[in-house]
Amino acid sequence: MTPRATLDLPQMAGAADAMQPVPVADRVHWVGALDPDLRNFDIILRTANGTSYNAYVVRGSTGVAVIDTVKQEFTEPFLKRLEAVARYDELTTLVLNHLEPDHTGAVPELLRRAPHLEICVSPRGVQVLRALLKDRFDDYAVRIVRTGDTVSLGDQTLRFLTTPYVHWPDTQCTHLQDQRLLFTCDLFGCHFCDARLFNDRVGDFRFSFEYYFEHIMRPFKAYVVAALDLIEPLDIAMIAPSHGPILRAHPRQYITHYRRLVKSRLASEVGDQKTLLIFYVSAYGATSMMAGAIYEGAAENPDVRASLFDLQIGEFTPFVDLIEEADALVFGSPTINGDAVKTVWDLLAGLVDIDTKGKLGAAFGSYGWTGEAVQMVEGRLQGLKMRVPEKGLKIKLHPTDAELEDCRDFGRRLAAHLTGRMQPREVDFADL
Ligand code: FEO
Repeated sequence: MTPRATLDLPQMAGAADAMQPVPVADRVHWVGALDPDLRNFDIILRTANGTSYNAYVVRGSTGVAVIDTVKQEFTEPFLKRLEAVARYDELTTLVLNHLEPDHTGAVPELLRRAPHLEICVSPRGVQVLRALLKDRFDDYAVRIVRTGDTVSLGDQTLRFLTTPYVHWPDTQCTHLQDQRLLFTCDLFGCHFCDARLFNDRVGDFRFSFEYYFEHIMRPFKAYVVAALDLIEPLDIAMIAPSHGPILRAHPRQYITHYRRLVKSRLASEVGDQKTLLIFYVSAYGATSMMAGAIYEGAAENPDVRASLFDLQIGEFTPFVDLIEEADALVFGSPTINGDAVKTVWDLLAGLVDIDTKGKLGAAFGSYGWTGEAVQMVEGRLQGLKMRVPEKGLKIKLHPTDAELEDCRDFGRRLAAHLTGRMQPREVDFADL
C-alpha cells in the first residue's frame, strides 16, 4: 500500500514549520521545506502560493543517503527533519542532483555536521560544487557520477542519469531502482506549496506545472527530450521532484505530458518549408513599406513560408510559439531618440523563454537622422545566439521605388540563406 503523509494539512504558513519528516516509500522520507510565502522565484517566476524545496533521505542496510537539500534560510528545519530519521554519523552519501542555491543552501552546514559524506555530483556539477565550497572543497570526498553509475546502500541502490540542462548544465536524476522511485530535482517540478505533498492529495496544480515548464524547461527542449529518452525505459512507480507535489499517482502521465509539451506544434502545418517571420513597427509608414517589400522578396522563394506581423497590436503571447518554431526572424524598427522602439525590445526580451540559438536573424528600419535602431537590434539578435548573415537594411525616410527593390532583394537573400542557396556570411560588427 502507498504510504500516506503523516500530516494532513492544506498549504498554509503555519503548517510549514510544524511538519515532521514524511514517509514517501519504504525507508524513504521527505525532509524538505515549505516556503508558502514566496511570490517571486529567481526574480522572473511568479507563484501564487509559494513553493517547496523537497529533499529526501534514503536508508539502506549499509548506508543512508541524502538526496538534495534546501534553500539556505530553511537549513534549520531541514536539518531538524533529517535528524528525526537519521544520525549524522549514519549518513554516507549526499546526492546533489542540481546545485542551484535553492537546493544547495543547506549543504555547507550539513557538511559541517557530517564531513565524512561522499558527495555525488554530475561532471558539470563538480564545477559548481567547487564554487560553492571554495577553499573547503578539497576537504570533502567528491565523486563524479555519470549515467549508469551506482551507489550501493546495501539493500538499496541509487543509479544516476546525467540529464544536463534540466535546468542547469549540472542537472542529473537519481533512480532508486529497488523502490522504482525517480528523484528528478527541477524536472517534473513546479512552484506549488501544499503540505499534503502528494499529487493525489494536494490542490489543483496543473497551471503551476505547465507554467513552470514554460519558464524553466522550455528554453532547453532538446535537453528535455534527451532526458525523457533516458527516463522512459525505467521502471518508475513514483517521481519525486524537488519542487511541488511528489508524483506517486500515475507518474507516467507526467512523462507523457512532458512529451506533448516539448513537441513542435506547427511542423505539420508548414511541412518541409522554412518559416520566416517579419515583425515590424512603423511610425510614419516607411518601415511598414520596407517590411512589405522584404516579405514580397522572401515569399518568392517556394521553399520559404513567409509571414508579416505588425507589432502595433501590442500582444506578444501568440507570437512566442511561432517564434520558437520559426527558422528566421526579421525585425523592423524605426529609430526614435537614437533607439529601437520599445515594442520591439519588449518582444525581444520575451524570447528568453525559448531557444533561438542558430536561427537566422536580420534587422531593418527607416530613420530620420542617425538610424541606430538596426544595429542595436542586430546586437540583440547576436546576443540571442542567432546567426546574422546579412548586414541590416536602413533607409532614410520613405523608401523610393529603387529602395523598395533593395528591400525585396534583402528578402530574397534572407530566403536564400535559409534554404542553403547562399553561402553563409556572418556580419562583422566592426563594419557596421
Ligand atoms: Fe530549483 Fe534550478 O533550481
